Amino acid sequence: MTVDAADPLAANLARWNARAEIHMADRTGFYDVEGVVAGTRTFEGVSDADLGPVEGLRIAHVQCHFGLDSLILARKGAVVEGLDFSPVAIEGARALAAQTGLPATFHLGDAMRAAEVMGAGRFDMVFVTWGTICWLPDVFAWGAQVAALLKPGGRLFFRDGHPAAQALDPVDGRLVPCFDWRTAREAPLRFEEETTYTGDADALPPVADHEWIHPVSDIVMALLRAGLRLDGIEEHDFLVWDMWPGVTERGEDGLWRLPPGQVRVPLSLTVRASRPA
Ligand SMILES: C[S@@+](CC[C@H](N)C(=O)[O-])C[C@H]1O[C@@H](n2cnc3c(N)ncnc32)[C@H](O)[C@@H]1O
Repeated sequence: MTVDAADPLAANLARWNARAEIHMADRTGFYDVEGVVAGTRTFEGVSDADLGPVEGLRIAHVQCHFGLDSLILARKGAVVEGLDFSPVAIEGARALAAQTGLPATFHLGDAMRAAEVMGAGRFDMVFVTWGTICWLPDVFAWGAQVAALLKPGGRLFFRDGHPAAQALDPVDGRLVPCFDWRTAREAPLRFEEETTYTGDADALPPVADHEWIHPVSDIVMALLRAGLRLDGIEEHDFLVWDMWPGVTERGEDGLWRLPPGQVRVPLSLTVRASRPA
């Protein structure tokens, strides 16, 4: 596959297509795909109480990867539509939906055009979790699109890495600020890991991942400007991935936290918002 390394989203797409192949094969068991298919595994880092009742709801799952959380939502009684820009991931999600017979359908498209692709005003809930807006150059476009997906009275559940944590990296075992608190649209951060985060050894395409840090104020204002009401905001001390290997520690609940001795920063963020009825 040839990739235009000068086009950040094209480079990201090539990397996500390759990751989707590797993740679906699940050779390291990182995603426990078998558990999702069998119905024995639920979300990571999101409880039923966090999410509230979903039975009977039509849910848009934006940046659904290959649909594992979409299937978990469907097994809880929701009718789910996932969206992702990776055709490899979407094809995999459709295959898993067919294999399980769960009510989940999938759209190929950019998250910053989600409502154009999935249809405006159709959803009771938009679900966006773990590893999402850092891939998007324009969080205001994202906010407008997720807001447009909702019916009046519909709600957004957003949980992802905290921008305060994203600005840090370890230096000599201590976390220090290494990145600006807000990433300019035209100057994304570039990361060049050769392999994906699941422990698989397969090489990713030799281009960079391009990522953006969006401050909390931009995330919230994107939703408010799009006409949503802010229902809640929470900061958490956990993540579902090992953000800084050798620094973060995994608890018995499977979540990653900072050990004593490290400066305490929020590692993740939940924003709840809704479209006024
Ligand atoms: C870390 S995964 C998200 C995991 C996901 N939240 C889940 O439910 O498992 C990031 C996903 O974002 C997708 N993605 C990245 N940039 C995108 C964009 N501009 N539009 C739509 N999807 C995008 C990738 O293809 C990938 O599937």
